[in-house]
Amino acid sequence: MNFLITGSNGQLAKEILKKLDKIGISFDAFDHNTLDITDLKSVREVIKSKKSDVVINCAAYNAVDRAEDDWQNAYLVNGIGPKNLAIACEENNAALVHYSTDYVFDGLKHAPYTIADDPNPISQYGKSKLLGERFVQTLSRKYFIIRVSWVFGIGNETNFVKKVIEWSSKNDTIKVVDDQISSPTYAVDLAKATLDLINTSSYGLCHMTSPNACSRYEWAEYILELIGWKGRLVPAKSDEFKTQAKRPGYSFMDSFPIIQTIGYNLADWKDMTKRMMKELKIDN
Ligand SMILES: NC(=O)c1ccc[n+]([C@@H]2O[C@H](COP(=O)([O-])OP(=O)(O)OC[C@H]3O[C@@H](n4cnc5c(N)ncnc54)[C@H](OP(=O)(O)O)[C@@H]3O)[C@@H](O)[C@H]2O)c1
Repeated sequence: MNFLITGSNGQLAKEILKKLDKIGISFDAFDHNTLDITDLKSVREVIKSKKSDVVINCAAYNAVDRAEDDWQNAYLVNGIGPKNLAIACEENNAALVHYSTDYVFDGLKHAPYTIADDPNPISQYGKSKLLGERFVQTLSRKYFIIRVSWVFGIGNETNFVKKVIEWSSKNDTIKVVDDQISSPTYAVDLAKATLDLINTSSYGLCHMTSPNACSRYEWAEYILELIGWKGRLVPAKSDEFKTQAKRPGYSFMDSFPIIQTIGYNLADWKDMTKRMMKELKIDN
């Protein structure tokens, strides 16, 4: 099987590459410079010439706030990019793995979102990701759309874990919102579960997150406990922070039917966070 990974410099892509390397699967990896997924001609050429069997799209425009004004670029990368990949995969009978987000939901359900719930994004970022889902669903037969949330891993300049650690090194008091609830998901675990899912050939839409929900505040509290921070953590509300984009309040996703598909659930978010700290070598 030939794997092809796009957006190979991203945090999730790096874990997938490590995993493929470890299990000895051959792959071609393309970063933003070597393959721009918004360019259909290049996408077609690369997928054809590499004779890819599975394309894992890790390329994305993830700047949630910037996407409000810069929506065309967000739509291009998160909508047209997956569309191009879906077209090329279909032409070459390759399977396409594409990641989406809990931000396709409006957060008003106040109960876990399932794969049967209708999306209703409240930000341009969420809309752009939904656009990508729809193109992939319409244009390819062998697709996996994997909705994930609050992804964190060591292979990225910044993510929530790294931000909290940085804030704690510069402040005695930190304010974190307690009205955004979802589920942190470790890129290492996502990489493994993605490869296990591909092995099932059970195509379609799924939610892949830790099975336990938490607020940003609870997550920060746990990170700070692990690093032994002695400052003061204060709960806050989202409207105290001026951000360009609205975020859903409760966007925790139920991972049904992951256990029925790959045979296990992802780990608890605390366990995932602890392992990331170990990887960063900064656990207390
Ligand atoms: N991070 C999260 O919390 C989160 C939450 C929900 C869903 N997701 C989804 O999970 C997936 C993986 O996310 P991640 O956190 O690993 O992302 P990431 O670390 O931000 O990586 C995304 C990569 O895509 C590349 N890229 C951007 N535009 C591109 C283009 N036109 N062509 C090719 N590559 C391009 C970026 O390169 P440059 O930096 O050089 O532009 C970057 O290396 C994405 O689909 C994302 O939307 C992530």
